[in-house]
Parts: sequence; structure tokens; C-alpha cells
Amino acid sequence: IVDVKGGPDEGMDRLGQALAIRGWVRTCRVQSSVTFIEVNDGSCLSNLQCVMNIDAEGYDQVESGAVTTGASVLVEGIVVSSQGSKQKVELKVARLVTIGKSDPTTYPIQKKRATREFLRSIAHLRPRTNTFGAVTRVRNALAYATHKFFQENGFVWISSPIITASDCEGAGEQFCVTTLIPNTREGTDSLVNTIPTSKDGKIDWSQDFFGRPAFLTVSGQLNAETYASALCDVYTFGPTFRAENSNTSRHLAEFWMIEPELAFADLNDDMACATAYLQYVVKYILENCKEDMDFFNTWIEKGIINRLNDVVEKDFVQLTYSDAVELLLGAKRKFEFPVKWGLDLQSEHERYITEIAFAGRPVIISDYPKEIKAFYMRQNDDGKTVAAMDLLVPRVGELIGGSQREERLEYLGSRLEELNLNKDSYWWYLDLRRFGSVPHAGFGLGFERLVQFATGIENIRDAIPFPRTPGSADF
Ligand code: 4AD
Ligand code: MG
Repeated sequence: IVDVKGGPDEGMDRLGQALAIRGWVRTCRVQSSVTFIEVNDGSCLSNLQCVMNIDAEGYDQVESGAVTTGASVLVEGIVVSSQGSKQKVELKVARLVTIGKSDPTTYPIQKKRATREFLRSIAHLRPRTNTFGAVTRVRNALAYATHKFFQENGFVWISSPIITASDCEGAGEQFCVTTLIPNTREGTDSLVNTIPTSKDGKIDWSQDFFGRPAFLTVSGQLNAETYASALCDVYTFGPTFRAENSNTSRHLAEFWMIEPELAFADLNDDMACATAYLQYVVKYILENCKEDMDFFNTWIEKGIINRLNDVVEKDFVQLTYSDAVELLLGAKRKFEFPVKWGLDLQSEHERYITEIAFAGRPVIISDYPKEIKAFYMRQNDDGKTVAAMDLLVPRVGELIGGSQREERLEYLGSRLEELNLNKDSYWWYLDLRRFGSVPHAGFGLGFERLVQFATGIENIRDAIPFPRTPGSADF
């Protein structure tokens, strides 16, 4: 398998070597004496230019029109220096085998650039485009760097459950899990719920699979807290689900979240961890995904490399929610949504803060009013705010949400009561405050928003292989 990564001299060290590539034809240009076949195997952005003379083995397949865009091929040959200006080396073909043909009249990926919307409708083929190949490799590098960062810093990776009974964020945005049996004759068009209902039509959950309502998790945090209360620093990295009916460029119904939880730590430790983590993974892709990052810099978001260099090199801005409200009230611009202490910041406000007020730098806002934040956040001494923090970045808005957790049993108990949450169902969570409670803090980072931020890709639907959004769960 060839890996001639981009850059001026790449591939030169293979000059004279015999080489085989298996991949997909991007283009095939037949000229009178010579044929140029661009092959890509997904290992890097660059295609390998394969130059084939009419006497090479398998030339009959070129003649018969089998070597078309989208076809899969095996090409063997010798690496030689290239006359072309686009690449230093090319493959002088000795043998070509067409493995899987691709009808050029119906292959959906044509040379002219397709819209992102169209490519979403062919999510099974879009990884064959330059953009999605690059996004996928950078997404992979970000995942690798995430584990590397936490492992190097002594964190233990925890698998939090996907099916859960609790609603971590208390926002009622959960998908319910239940068992269904398809009607064997009509297949999935006729699903039959196995939960018996009583005469008045109410579901009898005690008869269902889990014997109670169960949901897809919105966050692994509460489970991570239990392990942080034993192993100290831990993190989760897994899929989370939200039945938010928001059709925006930043929301998915299924997204991956990274949730570190630090024991014997406060909000300052949490903010320091979030900063160090973000700088580490951004630096990692700048150093290890140069060819793909150059591609984004040219084709997706001009200047993204400079912007990311600043993230690595400069301090993040830090201000309190109260300061942020003052700043917004003093802004010359008119906002659509009102700005008032006690109201949540809308994305137009977040974007103003990071894009205009602080010229593109990441901004951490802390100490939000307790009414607009989740039940588990630690109350500050003022009685009005909680030790929460959100990290905002340009274009994406909220990338990270975190907090110091309420470790005091009596405060947590009365907060649950104030919010009318069922205390009994949090018995195990409250136990952590009964037995060896410690100050602890953590955050959640939406992985697809990180991919958006790091690649410049505009829509979150293009930051994950198979996006799930309201009305769309294809593929
Ligand atoms: O701010 P959120 O709701 O915080 C939590 O879930 C905490 N339990 C995290 C923690 O402290 N361990 O979500 C965290 C992050 C957001 O900042 C955002 O990046 C992402 O998850 N996120 C989404 N990403 C894509 N689609 C959605 N619908 C998202 N909802 C949240
Ligand atoms: Mg949040």
C-alpha cells in the first residue's frame, strides 16, 4: 500500500522501487501513446499518478473502457520521477487489474464539484471525495490525540453506559429505549411494541425489557463521577444522544462526547485541563496532518492554520458570566435575543464574544446563574451562581461545557428538591456524597464540534460519517 504523503519531496525516497497500489480511480485520461490514471487509496489526500503505456499488461482494460472514475484497481509498477508539475513521483505501470468496475454514466461522484447537501444524500460514497477523506483522517487523528493526551496525563478511560435510566442534564431530551418485534410478514413497516398496555392505554413499564423506562444516554458524566470517586482522574469517550429538535449546523441527535472527570479538583483545575487538552489536540493535527490541513486552509476555510496556531500559542480569554453580560450590554450591535442577567446566552451572543469582542480567540465564561444550569453544579458562596464554565470558539460557539460538581450532600439534596427531581432515583449519585466525598470537576466536549473547529467544515453533519438529525437516520 502506497503512502506518498503530500509535500514537495514526498515519495522521492521510493524512487526506483517496485510498488503496488490498491485503490479507486479518480480520473483516467487516455492519450494516444500513454494513459494517466490517478489512483487514491485513502491513505492520504494525494492521488498516485500511474502512467501506462500501451504495451503494459492489462492495457486491454483501458481500451475496453473498464478503467473509469470510481472503479477499484490494483496497479503494479516502478516509482519514477514525474515530468508533471503536480507531483514529484509517479508510477510507471507494469500491470493493471480492474477489481470492481464502476459505470461512469451512473457513478454519482462526478468531476464537477458537488454540493455538501448532495454529498449527504450519498453518505455511502462521499468518503471517496477529497473533503471527506481529509475530514475523516483528521477526525481520526483528533481521536488518537485525545486518548494520547489523557493517557499521558494519568487519566483512566471509562466506558459509560449507552442505555441508562437517568437524565444527566435534566433537559428531557432523551430517546426512549424499548423492545419491538417486527411483524414477520410486513417487516419493519409494521413494528409491534412488546410492552403491554393496560385497558386505559397506559404503558406498563414493569413488563418491558428493563422493567422500567430506559433511555439513550445524554451524557456519561454521572457514571464518570462514580469512577473518579475511586480512580481519581478518568475520562469517557463515546456516543451520546439528544432528542433536541434543533435543525442547526451545530446540533446532532447522535454525537460523540469526551468527558474527563477530575477528583480533588476545582473549577480552576477544570479550566486548566480544558485549555491544555484543546491546545494539545490542535497542535497534534497541525504537526501530523499537514497535507489535509493545507487542503482545508485552501479550500474550506482560508486562514484556518493561522487561527489554530493562535489557539496553541496564545492564552484563552477568561471572564465571568456577569462580565459577559456587561460586555454584551455595552455592544454597539443590536441582538435579536434580549441580554439580561439571568438569561442564557444565545449563539448570536456567543459568536459576538469570541468573534468580535475577542477577535477569534477561545473564550471561557464561568460562574453562570444557577437557574440556567444543571442540578449537579456546585453553588458559589453568592447563592446565585454556580461554578460552571463554557468554552466558546469562533463559528462553532460552545465547544465545551463543564463545572465543579456539588460535593456537599445537603446542598445537592436541596437542589434536587428545588428542581422537583426524584431524589430516590439519584440514590447512588447521592451515595458518592455520603461516603468519602471529594471536590471534583469535569467537562464535556462535543467531538463533532471539535472536528468542525479543527477543519473549518461549516456544518456538523459533515463532521461525522453518518449524521443523525431530525427526520434523517439513513444509511
Ligand atoms: O453542555 P453539555 O450539555 O454538558 C454536558 O452534557 C455535561 N454533562 C458535560 C460534563 O460536564 N461532563 O454538553 C457538552 C458539550 C457541548 O459543549 C457541545 O460541544 C456538545 O457537548 N453538544 C452537542 N454536540 C452536538 N450536537 C448536540 N446536540 C450537542 N449537545 C451538546
Ligand atoms: Mg452546555
